[in-house]
Amino acid sequence: MNVPIASMAQKVSVGKKISSDLFGLFFEDINYAADGGLYAELIQNRSFEYNPTEQKDWNPFSFWEYVSPGFSYGRISVETTSPINPNNPHYMVLDVEHVGHEAKFTGTSGVGLKNAGFDGIVLKANDQYNFSVFMRQLSKEPMAITISLQTSTGKVLAENKISTSAGDWKKYSANLISTESCDKANLVILATTEGKIALDVVSLFPEKTFKNRPNGLRTDLATMLADMKPRFIRFPGGCLAHGDGLGNMYRWKNTIGPVEQRKEQRNIWGYNQTEGLGYFEFFQFCEDIGAKPLPVLPAAVSCQNSGGTWRIGGTGQHALPMDEMQEYIQEVLDLIEWANGPATSIWGAKRAEAGHPKPFNLQYIGIGNEDKITPEFTERFKMIFEAVKAKHPEITVVGTVGPSPDGDDFTKGWEIANELKVPIVDEHYYTSPEWFISHQHRYDTYKRKATQVYLGEYASWGNKLGNAIAEAAYMTSLERNGDVVRLASYAPMLAKKNFTQWKIDMIFFDNLKICPTPNFFVQKLFSTNQGDYYFDKVISKNEKDTTLAASCVQDSNAGDIMLKMVNYGSSPKPMKIKLSCFGNIAPEALQTVLSGAADAENTFDNPTNVTPVETTIKISKAFEYIAPAMSLTVIRIKMKK
Ligand code: AHR
Repeated sequence: MNVPIASMAQKVSVGKKISSDLFGLFFEDINYAADGGLYAELIQNRSFEYNPTEQKDWNPFSFWEYVSPGFSYGRISVETTSPINPNNPHYMVLDVEHVGHEAKFTGTSGVGLKNAGFDGIVLKANDQYNFSVFMRQLSKEPMAITISLQTSTGKVLAENKISTSAGDWKKYSANLISTESCDKANLVILATTEGKIALDVVSLFPEKTFKNRPNGLRTDLATMLADMKPRFIRFPGGCLAHGDGLGNMYRWKNTIGPVEQRKEQRNIWGYNQTEGLGYFEFFQFCEDIGAKPLPVLPAAVSCQNSGGTWRIGGTGQHALPMDEMQEYIQEVLDLIEWANGPATSIWGAKRAEAGHPKPFNLQYIGIGNEDKITPEFTERFKMIFEAVKAKHPEITVVGTVGPSPDGDDFTKGWEIANELKVPIVDEHYYTSPEWFISHQHRYDTYKRKATQVYLGEYASWGNKLGNAIAEAAYMTSLERNGDVVRLASYAPMLAKKNFTQWKIDMIFFDNLKICPTPNFFVQKLFSTNQGDYYFDKVISKNEKDTTLAASCVQDSNAGDIMLKMVNYGSSPKPMKIKLSCFGNIAPEALQTVLSGAADAENTFDNPTNVTPVETTIKISKAFEYIAPAMSLTVIRIKMKK
């Protein structure tokens, strides 16, 4: 539908209203995206909960080392008899029999534990690190504990001391300020007096987290995501949401409240998730960066690939027994109350207790993640959908239509959506760049005024510039169809170098550095240049040339006009721009060009090999633009004041 833009200064243009939430982010804890990644905790296996179901050789002592400097000796054991909380069953007991007093030894003598974090702890000179631990003194006398940050050769970069007191589990904290920068430091906890003590949730955070939030996020990664200005963030997955078997489904209630009471669990991608980055932190991050939260909850069935059935054809879906469904549905409804209910409601009170009395304004909720559309799924999805619709008509439910752009699950998923009038469904596709180029008209023929689309996961099998430009061409078609495609997010988003389970990702990182892919720059250029009206006659080009794509959107609040021009071909090609429908435009505009060789990519050694180039250009009401070979160009035009 073409409607006039009423709120703008220049009221002459007509455009098609499109989604104002179109481009957002997909977050899944895959590739160590959360623990060891965005979540700023520096200690690995902080709660001694690692176990062989995660990786065969893991156990509660994994990533810890017993240390007894100064000819000291003692014993350690992992115990479970009296934990801080039943959700966090394992803890470490340190029994110090003898602290050495040999003149030959000049360091600190004692018995304790060392942790090297996630492949080393990165310290910055003069920065503060906040240490905390839960301890229960098991012997009569108080014990002296020295906490230090050390280089791999044992040089002490920061040190502090704690003295324990009798009684039950208590949280002890100490600040550590590092005298030097170090890329691979260790945390050492040393009992320097004899006695017996239980320890759990040994934690170390940089003081400088994103927005200085406690239990917060790694600043550089979070800032990079914030700078993309995403309109929404989907979390916690992906397959992580529906889980590897019913016992592994992501249950949001396990991920809120004090971290020592959260339930760690096996990550479907083969490691451990502390849930330290849980629902509260996801919602808080969304709010901090102005993105709408889009939690995806399981549709009461597990991933069809549970038990590794990727290999034998996705037969691993299990469904919650019917007699557990009412409780499960209540869990879904409780999330809405937790997010939006008053602080006086049962679940709203828990949000308030966590420090957020105001509602989070949850608008979208996903039910299911690319599930196999079986009768068991269908029955459960309907029950959950109807319950949410009845109790919370204000919430927009996002359904699911399988893992592919077509096929059996896709067809059946859409049938359910049409029958139930599900507001939005989540389409997923990972395919070749050629597919993206040749399917640019996919949504042109989708029914208007019907179920809308969330393109929740997509990527074109590669992190080279050619892949990113194919995605850019496709994204212009998402804007053109922004009346049908309500939301879209590239996937997966984060990947830690040497810890990846999924090869093609948007942002690679290690403990120190970030390597943005060309795909990231394309996402960022679209995401930071979103509009809520689409104009189809502004850019003209050779319509027969499928390597060319273009779109024009306008942000009705600021009035800015954004032109996106894509050339997936191997030679420069002209496009004509006519801005006559826009009234008084500023004579200068910001032009950003991402271009290069199709096989160009970024690496940790050369992370800016492919990077957008910004220039200010002079423009007029009508001009020609020569789109460079293999390029995305964005021109952002302001209205004259
Ligand atoms: O994005 C990686 C995985 O791809 C997601 O977890 C899953 O939904 C899809 O199959």
